Amino acid sequence: MGAVSTEVLDEVAVIRIDNPPVNALSNDVIAGIHAEVARAAANPAARAIVMVGAGRTFVAGADIKGLEGMAWGDMSGAPDMHDTFELIEDCPKPVVMAMHGTALGGGLELAMAGHYRVASRDARLGQPEVNLGIIPGAEGTQRLPRLVGVEKALEMCVSGRPISADDALHAGLIEWIVDGDLVAGAVSLAREKADLPGPPRRTRERTDKLPPPSALPAMLEVGRALAAKTKKHLEAPRVVVDAIAAAATLPFDQGRVRERELFFECARSEQAKALIYAFFAERTVAKVPGLPAEPPPPVTSVAIVGAGTMGGGIAMACANAGITVTLTDTEQGFVDRGLATITRNYEASVTRGRLTPDEVRTRLDRIRTQAGAAPFDNADVVIEAAFENMAVKQEIFRRFDAGTKPGCILATNTSTLDIDAIASATSRPGAVVGLHFFSPANVMRLVEIVRGRDTAPATVAAALALAKRLGKVGVVVGNGFGFVGNRLMLPYMYEAQFLAEEGATPQQVDRVLTDFGMAMGIFAVDDMAGLDVAWRVRQERPPFAAGMRQPLVADVLCEMGRFGQKTGAGWYRYADGRKAEADPEVENLINRRAREGGIARRAISDAEILDRLMLTLVNEGARVLEEGIALRASDIDVIYLTGYGFPAFRGGPMFYADRRGLADVHRRVSELHAQHGARWQPAPLLERLAREGSTFRQLDAARAN
Ligand code: 3HC
Repeated sequence: MGAVSTEVLDEVAVIRIDNPPVNALSNDVIAGIHAEVARAAANPAARAIVMVGAGRTFVAGADIKGLEGMAWGDMSGAPDMHDTFELIEDCPKPVVMAMHGTALGGGLELAMAGHYRVASRDARLGQPEVNLGIIPGAEGTQRLPRLVGVEKALEMCVSGRPISADDALHAGLIEWIVDGDLVAGAVSLAREKADLPGPPRRTRERTDKLPPPSALPAMLEVGRALAAKTKKHLEAPRVVVDAIAAAATLPFDQGRVRERELFFECARSEQAKALIYAFFAERTVAKVPGLPAEPPPPVTSVAIVGAGTMGGGIAMACANAGITVTLTDTEQGFVDRGLATITRNYEASVTRGRLTPDEVRTRLDRIRTQAGAAPFDNADVVIEAAFENMAVKQEIFRRFDAGTKPGCILATNTSTLDIDAIASATSRPGAVVGLHFFSPANVMRLVEIVRGRDTAPATVAAALALAKRLGKVGVVVGNGFGFVGNRLMLPYMYEAQFLAEEGATPQQVDRVLTDFGMAMGIFAVDDMAGLDVAWRVRQERPPFAAGMRQPLVADVLCEMGRFGQKTGAGWYRYADGRKAEADPEVENLINRRAREGGIARRAISDAEILDRLMLTLVNEGARVLEEGIALRASDIDVIYLTGYGFPAFRGGPMFYADRRGLADVHRRVSELHAQHGARWQPAPLLERLAREGSTFRQLDAARAN
């Protein structure tokens, strides 16, 4: 049987789409739907048609593999659903689309070609194409406004955010929420509709929800403002407004042609290449060679040692995912303070309308607290989130070793310490793994999963499954200083400081970075994280070898007590708590230290700033890759996209280097090496790939085969 099949139930042809895992609309699936609809239309035993998805979802969209091909110029997988949608819409028998799970992108477009739509209560419906750098390309921008009006269509297509079944019902996108058996509900509706006189109504002929011409410009303006505000650097959200404008101003057949032109324009763009790459890169991280085939046992209970900022954030992440948590610390006061912070954070979510008071109560009920030596015997995973001190961590791991059940995962949230040294305090180093969460841990999506020398494959698999359960992106990394993220971050941060010493201001550097699309500039990040963090690291381990250039200003700022936002001053001044203002005192200090250090000050161009910062990441990334600390270049990109505010529309630092061309990157790094010395030594891997005319992406692909 193919991916699309039909069975007749109660005089209704039920067409089932079965293309695991998410019933994506590959060209084969579209052909299958076409054939089955034609058969059902001609089948005298069927008075109506219902279409459903098999497995966990309706249809999650066009096949993004096909779109990826398109982005790189291969049109063989380009979706073309027009004929099939027309066949459905012109069918004289009513077609009811029955949605559960997700109806996204091409999936929702397919549903809108039907005459009626029903959904299970937990279904999510949306046009998320802008997140891939494209716009709906199967008439979604033309049918959606006809069903829900221009304003709602703009909101959905510009934001890319799916809506709930309730919202869809309210907006007129579906006719009914089915609480019981979805197919049975859809079949009974289909039978009812088959009894109505005349042909079913075609959405493409509807105009009742379209606004009068005089009202349209203001609506489009709202859509454009939303795009500018929430998706500042992205092209597709702006383009989708034009496609929706076509729905309101042109007949359907002209509107869909306009949509198709705009869709192809977007599909070939640099942003689509990067965003589609990022989509698959994020899903590739879980594909780690050598892990057991069977899924790890589910986690129901986690114990966390350390009720500070990290421990509290991790506890919230677990409670949000339905996991029972025991949060412990050495003293009752620490535990109380930790729980008070968690409660405050949840209350803020209620104030912002993100959670209801009931949801908060349920989550808080999942968190138990305990002071002193906690029993870990029920925990499936224990996570140490104490402060960064090896002796403290080893002591906790001795307790883990003695007090946890066999099979329990023993995790440390260290950001700098050696996992093997921590594991050596236990008799079961195979169960020890790093779970490097990023602050705030209940919000940030990245978790570096640090594999020690003896970490068992089953432990890595369990850590990946836990990350996924928490709604996070777990990236497996090797046990080297700074793992991957901070290993690249530190030289990037120091290069920014060197640029400031040579004549750029912190605000110029940060502006260049945010113009590039970074969520924050590096000086602002440093101020937010606290300058004392890197200061402490510097005291244990100088950033560069003796004889190399060292940063001249950061230590002085720390000695002045300027630790960043938390002290009201760091690289910037924070008069009202969080808003960064340039501080002449810092500029004077940088000037003075540069003069004392014999550094000639000059005007530095934005282009030089960008080059030096991005290429620092790329060159260090190439080293990390060569050393095997990262499995793939795309893993480094995912770490930067999910943990460091790198813009997704640029794909990540390694993808950025690929698109620029590694020969050019290598040439520029060599130039910087000649100008600035050893810290710019080109990474041997970069040198080799540049010489071979290759890319990091090709290297990943070759290694995967
Ligand atoms: N095409 C191809 N593969 C897809 C896919 C799609 N539309 N959506 C998901 N997949 C694959 C993933 O790559 C992954 O494959 P893997 O197991 O080999 O790694 C697998 O399905 C499962 O995906 P997730 O790990 O993401 O599973 P989740 O359960 O966490 O999430 C989801 C499910 C919410 C459907 C999520 O996968 C998702 O958001 N998918 C993308 C949805 C989307 O953007 N749709 C629009 C596509 S563009 C389009 O339709 C254009 C049209 O207008 C012409």
